[in-house]
Amino acid sequence: MTCISRSVAETEQIGLELGQRLDPGTVVAYRGGLGMGKTAFTRGLAKGLGCRDRVTSPTFTIVNEYQGRLPLFHFDMYRLSGSDALFDIGWEDYLDRGGVCAVEWSENVADAMPEDTVYVTIQRHSQHEDWRVITIEGGLEA
Ligand SMILES: Nc1ncnc2c1ncn2[C@@H]1O[C@H](COP(=O)(O)OP(=O)(O)O)[C@@H](O)[C@H]1O
Ligand SMILES: [Mg+2]
Repeated sequence: MTCISRSVAETEQIGLELGQRLDPGTVVAYRGGLGMGKTAFTRGLAKGLGCRDRVTSPTFTIVNEYQGRLPLFHFDMYRLSGSDALFDIGWEDYLDRGGVCAVEWSENVADAMPEDTVYVTIQRHSQHEDWRVITIEGGLEA
């Protein structure tokens, strides 16, 4: 599915709608560079999962946890050099905890993403600085 977001609020709304229908154990892997709206999308995702706490970027903490209908584990792999570092922080344990793992900069840990990962690719729209082209693909139905 591909859609166009015309504002931060629309990106959050698209994330919210995805969050409402995610199953336990799902990995949501983002692709797309700095400032594309991965953290904004995750704010909506968290809302859709029923998490009430404010979502902040895990750039420095690597992973933040939120409690909702399902727990959300929000990773930022920007500073990690490869998937070994992800396994070192307990990636497999997170996968087993029945939550949703949302991974920013998944490009850096591509080989650690499970087969049924939901990929969210966010790109800038060619017509407008503040528009984004958001593609959601993969998952079990793929
Ligand atoms: N349509 C849009 N969707 C998401 N963010 C947008 C959009 N238009 C402008 N922005 C801006 O882009 C930035 C996205 O930041 P952030 O979510 O932290 O991105 P990332 O996590 O991908 O680095 C914010 O400053 C936001 O205001
Ligand atoms: Mg971010």
